[in-house]
Amino acid sequence: MSKVTVVGAGNVGATCANVLAFNEVADEVIMLDVKEGVSEGKAMDMMQTAQLLGFDTTLVGCANEYAQTAGSDVIVITSGIPRKPGMTREELIGVNASIVKSVAENALKYSPDAIVVVISNPMDTMTYLALKSLGLPKNRIIGMGGALDSSRFKYYLSQALGCNANEVEGMVIGGHGDTTMIPLARLAAYKGTPVSELLSAEKLEEVVQATMVGGATLTKLLGTSAWYAPGAAGAYVVESIIHNQKKQVPCSVYLEGEYGESDICIGVPVILGKNGIEKIVELKLTDDEKAKFAASAQAVRQTNEALKEVGVL
Ligand code: 2OP
Repeated sequence: MSKVTVVGAGNVGATCANVLAFNEVADEVIMLDVKEGVSEGKAMDMMQTAQLLGFDTTLVGCANEYAQTAGSDVIVITSGIPRKPGMTREELIGVNASIVKSVAENALKYSPDAIVVVISNPMDTMTYLALKSLGLPKNRIIGMGGALDSSRFKYYLSQALGCNANEVEGMVIGGHGDTTMIPLARLAAYKGTPVSELLSAEKLEEVVQATMVGGATLTKLLGTSAWYAPGAAGAYVVESIIHNQKKQVPCSVYLEGEYGESDICIGVPVILGKNGIEKIVELKLTDDEKAKFAASAQAVRQTNEALKEVGVL
């Protein structure tokens, strides 16, 4: 019997729960929200698609009843406010930090062995906050940003190449921020051929830039932040954990010397399995990539400093 709780039944949380159910990732998916009726209604609506879509997962919605989440294998945290057009993810820290801290603590009381997947923004800093405030081993706290950013990178690469996004390799490391993410163009490939052999340097740079502001582009179009890809990226991370798939996924994880950084959560490739982070994969970066990673870490660290200013750490 596998159980996943998604805290926050807004656009991202509900999409994540929906994908988890549709793909039958867990036997039971609980959605918890602060607003009466929202998660109950969304869960009921989704359950009414079970026969149409042919899934057997049970979805349950509840308002603030953490007891219902007891015994979850994975807890996904999507709580907090999304950004509006023109805002950075970092600007959300003042509101989201205390929300993320309290929902993570409440959820862990009922599921002390759970693995925590953080989606709330600013994602790297919220992952760091969860790690510091919950006191869990580092293999059990995972920020999903790199999974989303890498999927966006593959989308933009496939558009430029005119090919199927499933046949493209691409990875984004570093922070989940408009200026901090690092799409690794050097390692991107189409069916084994480096994309640098298929796209001009100029075109490839356009793809990199589009990826970095991928979330902001959608926020501008939608008037709020995106949800389909963020929700699906969360579900992708959960699936690798629950089904012990050992997929290599770039995620925000706590570093202790890897990539030359310590005391920070930031995106690097990891192997995800039943223990959460099974391994941190250390890529051989070029000097230029190393410099970008160091700058990204410095920016993430600066946002982490704000946790003290808002009084949550
Ligand atoms: C995004 O990039 C919500 O941070 C998320 O769309």
